[in-house]
Amino acid sequence: MPETRSWTSASPEQTAQIAIALAAWIPERTVIQLTGNLGAGKTTLTKSLVEAWGAAGADEVSSPTFTLIHEYGEPVTVYHIDLYRIETPAEFYSLGLDEIFDSPARVLIEWGEKFAPFLPENRWLIRIEHAGGDARTITASRP
Ligand SMILES: Nc1ncnc2c1ncn2[C@@H]1O[C@H](COP(=O)(O)OP(=O)(O)OP(=O)(O)O)[C@@H](O)[C@H]1O
Ligand SMILES: [Mg+2]
Repeated sequence: MPETRSWTSASPEQTAQIAIALAAWIPERTVIQLTGNLGAGKTTLTKSLVEAWGAAGADEVSSPTFTLIHEYGEPVTVYHIDLYRIETPAEFYSLGLDEIFDSPARVLIEWGEKFAPFLPENRWLIRIEHAGGDARTITASRP
């Protein structure tokens, strides 16, 4: 059954707390589309998710804006992907994400909505929206 949970965050620290609750809810082998405007907090949330899953410390997580794909954990348990700079389906396919999608990992994808038709249908969605100042609404839905 589809299920949705939402939170309101007043600060980056609260977003980190929400990430701990979210992390406990998201099983292994999950592809997660992270949707939200520039600066909404997709990377900020990812840092705490990666830490909560025990794959790396939050300080070791940086935005894959230029590197496109980061891997955390040994063996790899989390991939963090940013499609902001990817423009064409050919570029998307050259990333070889199908292999990543089939791996026993959690996969977080910023700007995934740009290539939604090419993402696994059974993916989760986390939406982060500005709600004035430092406030954010965070909505997570599973298929
Ligand atoms: N409640 C909040 N939750 C998360 N981040 C917040 C919050 N309030 C302020 N911020 C700040 O907003 C910024 C979010 O930046 P971040 O890089 O996480 O966004 P992003 O969604 O990944 O952007 P981009 O699309 O450019 O990759 C950070 O500077 C963070 O400290
Ligand atoms: Mg980001």
